[in-house]
Amino acid sequence: MALERTLSIIKPDATRRNLTGKINAKIEENGLRIIAQRRIQLTECQAKAFYAVHAERPFYGELVEFMISGPVVVQVLEGENAVAKYREVMGATNPANADEGTIRKEFAESIEANSVHGSDSAENAANEVKFFFSDCDIVG
Ligand code: RTP
Ligand code: MG
Repeated sequence: MALERTLSIIKPDATRRNLTGKINAKIEENGLRIIAQRRIQLTECQAKAFYAVHAERPFYGELVEFMISGPVVVQVLEGENAVAKYREVMGATNPANADEGTIRKEFAESIEANSVHGSDSAENAANEVKFFFSDCDIVG
């Protein structure tokens, strides 16, 4: 098993409801370490660039609006198979399909306001971590 890093974002629906600590507890209970963390207000430019892979999807405009609707917490998580592990801990995109005990099952409001983002591959994780953090910001 490989020690990996992945990029997590606690989304505006969750920061609005003061759920950062509860989500961080789930992350840590599941064996992932939060090795960098910053609360920020995304700009429209940043949100568009971060979700550029979805630019052609019908929900892109709404997704960008949602992601800039309040503060987010960007984080680097580290652990064994962190990319896949965090996707498990997050649960399915649509909370209606998420497994019991997952962050989205417990906290998400809808398919869009689904409380957390997690990188979906090791390659994307490396790029997404770089999008928000310099090497000196990450204290493993
Ligand atoms: P994420 O990238 O945020 O970790 O979520 P994901 O992989 O589970 O889902 P993805 O397909 O990458 O979609 C990115 C985010 O777009 C919003 N979304 N809205 N209205 C809709 O049908 C819809 N579908 C997706 C969600 O916020 C989703 O997490
Ligand atoms: Mg995704």
